[in-house]
Amino acid sequence: MSTLFDPVQAGDLQLANRIVMAPLTRNRSPNAIPPDLAATYYSQRATAGLLITEATAISHQGQGYSDVPGLYGTEQLDAWKRVTDAVHAKGGKIVVQLWHVGRVSHTELQPDGGKPVAPSAITAKTKTVLIKDGVPAFVETSEPRALDAGELPGIVHGFAVAARSAVETAGFDGVELHGANGYLLDQFLKDGSNKRTDDYGGSIENRARLLLEATRAVVDAVGGGKTGIRLSPVTPANDVHDSNPQPLFTYVVKQLAQLNLAYIHIIEGATGGPREIADRPFDYEALKAAYREAGGKGAWMVNNGYDRPLADEAVKEGDDLVAFGKPFISNPDLVRRLRENAPLNELDKATMYGGGAKGYTDYPALG
Ligand SMILES: Cc1cc2nc3c(=O)[nH]c(=O)nc-3n(C[C@H](O)[C@H](O)[C@H](O)COP(=O)(O)O)c2cc1C
Repeated sequence: MSTLFDPVQAGDLQLANRIVMAPLTRNRSPNAIPPDLAATYYSQRATAGLLITEATAISHQGQGYSDVPGLYGTEQLDAWKRVTDAVHAKGGKIVVQLWHVGRVSHTELQPDGGKPVAPSAITAKTKTVLIKDGVPAFVETSEPRALDAGELPGIVHGFAVAARSAVETAGFDGVELHGANGYLLDQFLKDGSNKRTDDYGGSIENRARLLLEATRAVVDAVGGGKTGIRLSPVTPANDVHDSNPQPLFTYVVKQLAQLNLAYIHIIEGATGGPREIADRPFDYEALKAAYREAGGKGAWMVNNGYDRPLADEAVKEGDDLVAFGKPFISNPDLVRRLRENAPLNELDKATMYGGGAKGYTDYPALG
């Protein structure tokens, strides 16, 4: 019987254990360039079986918060190469989370101050972070404009280009498409945010089209064995909702099963909140079974509110990988602490978004 601390293969990725650092936005990348400290931050955490970077914009249009990194400029790629080199020097594995925020943005962050883009012109009832003079402020997202169907191939291409640059130039071991948390791909999936009447709206097949096209393009660019995807079937994060998520996500994972992906990453419940939502029931075991029955061989990664006992239970029940978010912010040596059942450092919420070394690279490891 496997444990959390046993190695596992996820596509091309040979992982030393089943503990994954979840993607964590830290807003410390002015001009969308990861700071030198990012190499320290990620390499401090390299004992994780896999590190997933903070969400990283595939284009300027794909950016929705101040001081988040990108993957579309030379300086950005050079900075990421320093990060991947530092992680590899410690024997770690790292993939980058590919991000297009869609409507979760602000005109101040968009090229030429334009409107953020979305499947439909519906403003998300959510906030984004603008950092002014080093001080983060939460502000309402701007009203978006609906994307023209003719613009969608460019977005799909953007995912593929970013994936290729990530692997070939920045030295990542792979990529994760951000299909979760109410960002662009999730906005297209769910009928609360997608009211389109063309081939990208309406039926489940149509709403899943953009996510599947982007995933296939990334697979063509870097190979399925280096590609993962994150999904959040019922999260209310960023004001998304689907009226019938079980058949929607069943269709999605059955299609993904044909792409020989490295892994499927599922956020169970409300991201960072309750694992069960009373008015949004969802059967995750049935979702996993549908993926396996459709021939899906990728690793099954779960996330949200895991601790050691819950993670042990998940691995026992056949989940391959468990992603930890907040515990990895405050515990660079989380793998060791979980193994030894050692106490965890407390998270300082004030330094999660923005700032420098404090609350980033200064959390202590066990002596
Ligand atoms: C500070 C912070 C930043 C986050 N940034 C991202 C992100 O960039 N991409 C993403 O998919 N999820 C992001 N999340 C969600 C986490 O990956 C994770 O799903 C969530 O924290 C629940 O896992 P946990 O209970 O282990 O913390 C973020 C969460 C936090 C607390």
